[in-house]
Amino acid sequence: MNGKIKIANILVDSIPFIQEFRNSTIVIKYGGSAQQNLELKENFAKDIILLYMLGIRIVIVHGGGSKITQMLESLKIESKFINGIRVTSKEAMKVVEMVLNGDINRELTFFFNLNKIKAVGISGKDAGLLQAKPLDFDTFGFSGEITKVDTKILIKLLDDGFLPVVAPIASGDNLEHPGFNINADSAACEIAKALNANKVIFLTDTKGVLDENSELIPTLTPQSAKKYKDLNIITGGMIPKIDACVSCVKNGVQKVHIIDGRILHSILLELFTTQGIGTQIINE
Ligand SMILES: Nc1ncnc2c1ncn2[C@@H]1O[C@H](COP(=O)(O)OP(=O)(O)OP(=O)(O)O)[C@@H](O)[C@H]1O
Ligand SMILES: [Mg+2]
Repeated sequence: MNGKIKIANILVDSIPFIQEFRNSTIVIKYGGSAQQNLELKENFAKDIILLYMLGIRIVIVHGGGSKITQMLESLKIESKFINGIRVTSKEAMKVVEMVLNGDINRELTFFFNLNKIKAVGISGKDAGLLQAKPLDFDTFGFSGEITKVDTKILIKLLDDGFLPVVAPIASGDNLEHPGFNINADSAACEIAKALNANKVIFLTDTKGVLDENSELIPTLTPQSAKKYKDLNIITGGMIPKIDACVSCVKNGVQKVHIIDGRILHSILLELFTTQGIGTQIINE
């Protein structure tokens, strides 16, 4: 009986959070690094299903860095990153699209549909969702930066009760163009800004942002984030993530969190507990 009362208490305790988030828009960036095994992916899907059932408008943007690197390796194509951004040749771009859109996007969408959630997998190429230009073609090749987000398709899907799952690639401007590889953190950020999202959550493979002693930094501001970047404490894949977080909070997104996607139910812990987990980024 005590156990049952405990469950009832937990449900009652979550009322204020449910009231806060119902009908709000939350963009969740599901890092490739957090998609480590079937159990984690299934639990991620279950957390999202719960949020969906509570009436939260959710958009998922997924990454796939490690899987892309593995696939390129098996094809004997080298992976190179500069400041956390992949240098993408034309042949690598074909592989990026194949892995993101053909593999990861399909698998995630399937997890949701298996649980009777109407998920729709799309890429930034669909319905002009993400428009882009080269970041700097001579340095990064077909890695692009977003110039415009056309939210029509997302709004239509959300209004009709679908769960959009977005692969971060964008179209080029001619038939020969392989398209652009967009860093998933910046795709999530630009989509969140365009949708006026209330919150963005980045799931990755660390506790959050760590300091020089590998201790968790609970709160970052644009100023303190710049300091950690300048001191080379924030490096690699954390650079585009922090840049995305800062851009979000400076452009109207109320709350941004980087959390550990390796912890089971990390999204629920973040949303439904007072303290939350990971690093929050605020605009002071
Ligand atoms: N100060 C820092 N704190 C935490 N992680 C850091 C820091 N500096 C660099 N990193 C690196 O950033 C990585 C997370 O970025 P990464 O791009 O690898 O993952 P992701 O964005 O979740 O996945 P994907 O790019 O596939 O979507 C961590 O695994 C860590 O190695
Ligand atoms: Mg990354």
